[in-house]
Amino acid sequence: MADFPALQNDLLLRAARQEPVERTPVWIMRQAGRYLPEYRALRADEAFFDVVRTPALAAEVTLQPLRRFPLDAAIIFSDILVVPQAMGLRVEMIPGRGPYFPDPLRTVEDLRRLRRPDVQDALHYMLEAITLTRKALAGKVPLIGFCGAPWTLMAYMIEGGSSKTFARAKGWLYRQPEASHRLLTLLTDVLVDFLIAQIDAGAQVVQVFDSWAGVLSPDLFRAFALPYLRRIGEAVKKARPEVPRIVFARGAHASLAELADGSYDVVGLDWTVDPRQARKLTGGRVALQGNLDPCALYADPETIRQLTHQMLDAFGPRGHIANLGHGLHPDHHPDHVRAFVEAVHDYVPVTST
Ligand code: CP3
Repeated sequence: MADFPALQNDLLLRAARQEPVERTPVWIMRQAGRYLPEYRALRADEAFFDVVRTPALAAEVTLQPLRRFPLDAAIIFSDILVVPQAMGLRVEMIPGRGPYFPDPLRTVEDLRRLRRPDVQDALHYMLEAITLTRKALAGKVPLIGFCGAPWTLMAYMIEGGSSKTFARAKGWLYRQPEASHRLLTLLTDVLVDFLIAQIDAGAQVVQVFDSWAGVLSPDLFRAFALPYLRRIGEAVKKARPEVPRIVFARGAHASLAELADGSYDVVGLDWTVDPRQARKLTGGRVALQGNLDPCALYADPETIRQLTHQMLDAFGPRGHIANLGHGLHPDHHPDHVRAFVEAVHDYVPVTST
């Protein structure tokens, strides 16, 4: 493992462990992205996956939002779909349309096309980007590594791109449960290797994105998503216990209590969840992350400030990491992003005397 500069801002790490903090830490999903003019300028000359595959460019894009805003963490610039790529599927990013798999998994026989990669080899570019970024951060804030959850990756690998319903992928769960479990198991094995490799490359926190948890019924989530999320959380905890793990299962309302079973330190919430209810459901067993509605950033800066302060009141000062309830949108104004970040900074908690 490389020798990195000492961390100067550990608010995120302490909040994840539910330790006292002087101030709630804040970072934002998709904090690097198209709402930043400097990102659009860089992307004008480079395809999305070329940026992802070039460590110097990925590091540069990771740092862009940190030069503008006093964020308490960096998240490595990459994509969850690098894992299906490493397993043998082609994935393109079509501007304005999103991910596209020219040759997705159609039948159970297609599982034979997948391999279990050596992550050090197949995903070396992301690991190098992490090491490079961690050095460039010089201890300013911690660096977050990430991966997609098994169900969300399976959904893309079968659907071949984004979808409202992910009906084709859900069809597998109902028709081919055994093959689905085989695919989810393979993905889980790769993802455990990948997160541990990211930590060894320099990631100080890891987040698992189950972005499409919300298309599953509670029973499907419990059968096909939750056990694999748990396996990942437990395996990474066992291998690298000092590194906090965050799980963000968007729309998994029915399973919030089960997500707080100890396999993760932090449960991320989307904006449809009431923070006070989430506190009750998770009973202080985990820290919570989130969850201002990304569309609240379309309001004027003073309203953003008020809404952010209301959100901070609702979560309380202990065990909270401020974030949006999902990623920033390409048409968000950087000044409104700033209003959100600054509102977290200037918040004074309501104290009971
Ligand atoms: O700043 C960060 O959050 C780090 C970088 C990051 C990206 N993708 C960059 C990206 C992260 C953490 C992701 C995760 C990711 N990728 C998820 C989980 C989070 C979520 O949004 O639910 C998912 C589902 C994907 C798959 C993906 N990548 C989709 C569906 C799309 C297209 C939708 C869109 O926003 O355009 C992407 C493309 C993508 N990934 C972009 C960025 C900045 C925009 C593409 C571009 O620059 O042309």
